[in-house]
Amino acid sequence: MAERGIQSVLVENRVFEPNARFRDAVGAAHIPDLATYKAMYQRSLSDPEGFWGDVASDFTWFSPWKRVLEWSCPDAQWFVGATTNICFNCIDRQIDGGHGDDIAIIWEGEPANSSQPHGFEVRRITYRELHGEVCRCAHALRALGVSRGDIVTLYMGMVPELAIAMLACARIGAAHSVIFGGFAAPAIVDRVHDAASRVIVTCDGAFRRGAVVGLKGNVDEACKSLPEVQHVLVVRRTNTPVSWSEGRDVWWHDLVAAQQSSCPCEAMDSEDLLFLLYTSGSTGKPKGIRHTIGGYMVFTAATARWTFNLQPDRGQVFFCTADIGWVTGHSYVIYGILPNRVPTLMYEGAPNFPSESRLWSMVERHKVTQFYTAPTAIRAFMKWGDEHPKGHDLSSLILLGTVGEPINPEAWIWYHETIGASRCPIVDTMWQTETGGHIITPLPAAIATVPGSCTVPMFGVDAAIVDEQGEEQPPNVGGLLVIRQPWPGMLRGIHGDRERYVETYWSKVPGMYVAGDGARRDERGYFWIMGRIDDVINVSGHRLGTMEVESALVSHESVVEAAVVGMPHEIKGTGITAFVTLGPGWQDKAGKALARQLQEHVGREIGAIAKPDVIRFTQALPKTRSGKIMRRLLRDIAAGKDSGQDTTTLEDLSVVAKLRESDE
Ligand code: WTA
Repeated sequence: MAERGIQSVLVENRVFEPNARFRDAVGAAHIPDLATYKAMYQRSLSDPEGFWGDVASDFTWFSPWKRVLEWSCPDAQWFVGATTNICFNCIDRQIDGGHGDDIAIIWEGEPANSSQPHGFEVRRITYRELHGEVCRCAHALRALGVSRGDIVTLYMGMVPELAIAMLACARIGAAHSVIFGGFAAPAIVDRVHDAASRVIVTCDGAFRRGAVVGLKGNVDEACKSLPEVQHVLVVRRTNTPVSWSEGRDVWWHDLVAAQQSSCPCEAMDSEDLLFLLYTSGSTGKPKGIRHTIGGYMVFTAATARWTFNLQPDRGQVFFCTADIGWVTGHSYVIYGILPNRVPTLMYEGAPNFPSESRLWSMVERHKVTQFYTAPTAIRAFMKWGDEHPKGHDLSSLILLGTVGEPINPEAWIWYHETIGASRCPIVDTMWQTETGGHIITPLPAAIATVPGSCTVPMFGVDAAIVDEQGEEQPPNVGGLLVIRQPWPGMLRGIHGDRERYVETYWSKVPGMYVAGDGARRDERGYFWIMGRIDDVINVSGHRLGTMEVESALVSHESVVEAAVVGMPHEIKGTGITAFVTLGPGWQDKAGKALARQLQEHVGREIGAIAKPDVIRFTQALPKTRSGKIMRRLLRDIAAGKDSGQDTTTLEDLSVVAKLRESDE
């Protein structure tokens, strides 16, 4: 990762200035030029309360704040004492403004369905319809015993009911914890347990690349270890048979449909919990990142507006391809987009179903204006071939975005030329589950872009590159990416683990938020992310802890010890190599069949995204004299191998380890 970042700058000197065609396409851009960016950025740091107070006054608050910011490091409170409801700002406010019949969500299902125009199932949901659905769902949740302050777990596919359930929770003051539908039963158990959820909302199944993922079955499996779960509300989507636990399980279409279509919003304190989202860190246990209502609402909607230049009434359609199970889907499919009154396009399935043209066909049919995806997807598009985008009319596009990992300049240029017809600015948005929204990103009419750089900080984000003492590094010297002032979208903690919150984010450089990424700034002040400095790897833009995968491996009867490292991967960006030592009686089984078994085992323990690409069996893991696993050595060894190839013999790494010991 680090090497790739540095290499890219050595060859990368192409600068793409903001262009007049984009300005023409949007009329008046929110941030029209560099001077405006600089002036606003300057004010956002010198007068954060004035700056964010002004931004927040664009939203509906039921009662005003006493102070914009209360900061006692590492605890921030934003819009202190104010009450609001994010669901109101997403929906009711649009209806009150006379826009109830505008489209809030365009949803497209995965299956090819010949009875529909263009062959796909499409739902266009207005704010008024969304309001009705959300209110009914809110009553249904209450009927299942959910009340203010509870945490409801949502384990669903990308169906409109997921958005409805999130908004319904917010409406009645319950928090949600969305678990990505690709996670397996044991991962559900940990998360539901940690959140103490008594209600889970799920689907019978989810369509994925033409097959059905049995979500309800996974929930049933998880519930065997979750006596605290009282109700499971089930959306019928795939019509696949499910087992049923009388008294616990309830069909959505029975309960929700029977409810009233109006339900007032609870007045919530700005600092009440909006959601938990579990993400990976350096230890085996995923952490529940806490986001609260007021600051997150203001930050996500404002960053969405600035970064993507969202404007209502100009025919814009915003398409973020992320699954709502990740933070990108929370912030830029739902919460950041609805308050801006631009339709958000939500897609159920895989980008290559029924063909590799699927997303381009959607762009054409829905006249998408802003398209937001991940570098791993872009690399897959490149591999699938230009004929797919070239076969569709993409002229509606005005802007392209990327997120999740550093983008290699080759992919950037391809995206620019082949998807954007060299006309659309690209916003390379750097941020994290913890930051709520974009922290470093170009603004399309104001900031010149350089392929591979996420460019400049967002308003209110005092980003810097420092050493471990907190000293700012000179240009082009690598260091830690930190943020030196609180911003409204920042996490408020890790659920149930104060110590880990302080330790992970605020102790490495006292007084500063440490993001966990290595980065540098160039002479123009542009940021270049070099990759994670902790034991987190970014596989296809999905965050995984190497320790989580190691724990899953050692839970298999054959494995004594495992060390997991990232390795360069053509499409995924980072792939997973696992070095594994086997227990007595298993050594002679080292081979392809056992490797496959271990991959499947990890799939069952965590989910398919965590399956190692390569398993290497070794006599012993290389360790330093003090007993530390030599991870750097393992990374080098992993990088030297062709990806996708299982090593099947028992390796002896002790000799290489001896040669390298002085290095680690
Ligand atoms: C990485 C995803 C380079 C980074 C929104 C970060 C990026 C982690 C970029 C967070 C980018 C995200 N350029 N790296 N534009 N965007 N990252 O929590 O390592 O799933 O720390 O949030 O992804 O991943 P997370």
